[in-house]
Amino acid sequence: MTIGIDKIGFATGRYRLDMGDLAQSRGVDSEKFSKGLLLDALSITPITEDIVTLGASAANSILDEKDKASIDMVLVATESSIDQSKAAAVYIHSLLGIQPFARSLELKEACYSATAALNYAKLHVEKHPQSKVLVIASDIAKYGINTPGEPTQGSGSIAMLISQNPRLLELHDDNVAQTRDIMDFWRPNYSTTPFVDGMYSTKQYLDMLKTTWAEYQKRSGKTLADFSAFCFHLPFPKLALKGFNKIMDKSLPDAKKEALKANFDASITYSRQIGNIYTGSLFLGLLSLLENSEHLQAGENIALFSYGSGAVAEIFSATLVDGFKSQLKTNRKEELESRQSISVADYETIFFEEDALDEDGNASFADYVTNDFSLVAIKGHQRIYEAKDGQENN
Ligand code: HMG
Repeated sequence: MTIGIDKIGFATGRYRLDMGDLAQSRGVDSEKFSKGLLLDALSITPITEDIVTLGASAANSILDEKDKASIDMVLVATESSIDQSKAAAVYIHSLLGIQPFARSLELKEACYSATAALNYAKLHVEKHPQSKVLVIASDIAKYGINTPGEPTQGSGSIAMLISQNPRLLELHDDNVAQTRDIMDFWRPNYSTTPFVDGMYSTKQYLDMLKTTWAEYQKRSGKTLADFSAFCFHLPFPKLALKGFNKIMDKSLPDAKKEALKANFDASITYSRQIGNIYTGSLFLGLLSLLENSEHLQAGENIALFSYGSGAVAEIFSATLVDGFKSQLKTNRKEELESRQSISVADYETIFFEEDALDEDGNASFADYVTNDFSLVAIKGHQRIYEAKDGQENN
């Protein structure tokens, strides 16, 4: 029996901030963002989108009624939690109408936890081959106005359906993880934005990559020559490019190096337009690779590097299965282009709007553009979500 990713879906904020506009407004040379960070635009969410609406929308784009009857576990990986107690997975389970006898929970370790969720899902299907597990990585990356991290913000959610005999990617058992207790990026409960030691975080990312890759090669006996593509966690694409150059094996034939580079470029196509989506970033890179590479074939192997500040890293691998292309979308670029462009002033208002609760814990919101679901109100401190078809869930 093979186990892996059967379907993959995506949702991102329906507003787009152009990096050129942000650079001009911040008095920065626009090439610092376009060439220095490799970013062209950011996805912005209004107050009526959160990790629940994004996650539910990403999953809604891939699930059918048969899936909903077979899913018995919903795992949401996030670091933009909306509640210290109730898991976003419970709301999403309800919004999607998944059968009731399911386990739903939330996982956290910065940008890393979706990789742990994939592992848990895989082990679960190994024991219960008829089960399907919905893994969602959902985040809104907010660093704050005029901070060094501002040009790397973003929002989005990746949903993956894990099953036996997957039609997209088979996951392997070669994972190597590393934990290192560091303070490169963290967000205490009392703060809406993270504390970041930016340069230190980039050094740690690259060193965790180098050391985990060395250990992975030692344990698995595999080398870069065994892979057609290497996907990276994408806080901003330029850092992943540095990572790609770091692991490059100079002894490989030029044609192989060029093929790996072409696939690397395919893997950052979406991220360049969206920014950091934290837990989902690595998998957005994977989706981008699969939907934009012109060369990938069934049977080829992909390596994946997951990194979450704090820090935990993991390298694992997957193989493309026959017919994988039928599981992918062909109009993603048009979808991204259809986002509504906003000015820097509107971004500053929309992205940082906070709940204005009355003394009874009620709030209502202006009508913003969202994906398939939106947060329509807060009533007595309870978040009320609605599907586009008007059905209310609380
Ligand atoms: P900065 O101020 O943009 O840094 O902050 P910089 O001055 O070094 O400039 C960046 C690049 O632009 C440099 O390129 C410059 O040379 C270049 P490099 O030398 O590195 O190749 N540049 C230009 N290029 C062309 N034309 C120009 C020009 N000017 C400059 N005119 C920093 C960068 C990473 C600190 C900032 O973006 C930041 O704080 N980001 C947030 C933290 C982050 O993303 N860290 C990444 C590793 S940690 C991680 O991945 C985990 C994370 O996802 C969170 C989680 O796990 O939950 C963040």
